[in-house]
Amino acid sequence: MTSEHTRAIHPDEVGQCIELWHCTWPNAAPGYFERYLRGDAEFIPEYCRVSSVDGQVVASAMIVRRTVSCGDMTLTVGCLANVATVADYRGRGYANECVQQCLKVMEADTFDLSILFSDRHHFYGRLGYTACPMTHFEGPPREEVCVKSDTYLVRKASVSDFAPIEAIYARYNLGRPLAVVRSSAYWREWIRWDGGGFTSQALVAAAGDEVIGYAVARRREDCADIVELCTLPGHEEAMRTLCCTISTGCAGDGVARLSLHLPGGYPLPSIAEKCLGSVQAGCDTSLMVRLLNSDALLRGIAPELTDRWRRAGSPAGQLAVSTPYGPAALTVSDTSLQVRAMVPEETPAMIGQSDLVSLLMGYDSCSYRLDPETRMFIQALFPTARGWFWALDRC
Ligand SMILES: CC(C)(COP(=O)(O)OP(=O)(O)OC[C@H]1O[C@@H](n2cnc3c(N)ncnc32)[C@H](O)[C@@H]1OP(=O)(O)O)[C@@H](O)C(=O)NCCC(=O)NCCS
Repeated sequence: MTSEHTRAIHPDEVGQCIELWHCTWPNAAPGYFERYLRGDAEFIPEYCRVSSVDGQVVASAMIVRRTVSCGDMTLTVGCLANVATVADYRGRGYANECVQQCLKVMEADTFDLSILFSDRHHFYGRLGYTACPMTHFEGPPREEVCVKSDTYLVRKASVSDFAPIEAIYARYNLGRPLAVVRSSAYWREWIRWDGGGFTSQALVAAAGDEVIGYAVARRREDCADIVELCTLPGHEEAMRTLCCTISTGCAGDGVARLSLHLPGGYPLPSIAEKCLGSVQAGCDTSLMVRLLNSDALLRGIAPELTDRWRRAGSPAGQLAVSTPYGPAALTVSDTSLQVRAMVPEETPAMIGQSDLVSLLMGYDSCSYRLDPETRMFIQALFPTARGWFWALDRC
């Protein structure tokens, strides 16, 4: 009789699981998957669900737990990763069961939100995830661009730059919605910040002896991506110098297309103009989001939203958010913002869970289709914030 179970990974299944992931994604760098089970301080066996058939691991899904900033608050995010089934066992519901168990574990552990990166929208849509499109700039890299700066010297990052880079990241991303709060151990064990690791090129900009900014670029075939770009306050000009140096290098190296995966708003458009031959907007639809414990999440953020609402002059309005657990209403009393279940006869403007995540990140993807009062209400609760989930944190 066949014995099959879907449950938390057993210690003696770690090798099988890593092998499943390397077989499923053969282009991953050596050591890439080991860190999920052996290099992540947040990992516990409950976070890796496996389906086992007669003692063989045939499917998996796992939760990568991260703390992200969100203004003055932090949120607990579960990145869903390594969803894989051995080819002969596909189409039998194993991956679905592994993900369902991940969702139960995240709900029980009071995670706020789950995210994942995948084009399988249908598969994850049934599990409550919705796409949250992110835009970026792309175009051919410019060769003839002035990279000289009197203020900043750009050079390859070396080991002695790691500590200042960590400090610059922390300063630049303080409070930035969805930016992962990174410890030194995380830089070392997860990002493998050793000048190479899973990143292809890291540059730093120095003003005199002080490192004040850095950029990380990745090459894939004849395309390249700038995936991280951070400076200390007051040194935004260094971003242009860093990007132009990368752009010139890419053009000389035969790169046909350079993409800037960076938070929107100032100074991104002017950087794109400067270092791309013809700027186009690209849309990445791989980010999918799912609220977990949406009631607790909304109640948790309500005090901060109340502060914002008061600072904006307490405008009238109400809003409903559709969540995998049913709609929740955000309404105002005389002095504060309240979160409650919706009553059937209510008809407030309704936004989706991915709209809420975009709004929390400081991007307004939905108010253009709502009435003027709701638009003002939304703008009071969710001011522009340039949130971002950096590619180096993707799971
Ligand atoms: C994507 C992947 C994990 C799915 O694994 P799986 O175990 O076949 O998944 P499931 O069986 O739960 O669901 C797959 C499909 O089979 C169907 N299915 C579910 N239960 C079923 C059952 N008992 N019998 C037959 N079909 C079933 C589902 O409806 C689903 O259909 P969909 O493609 O329209 O969504 C697997 O194809 C894989 O490893 N692909 C390569 C890695 C990858 O792309 N991972 C996802 C990256 S985010």
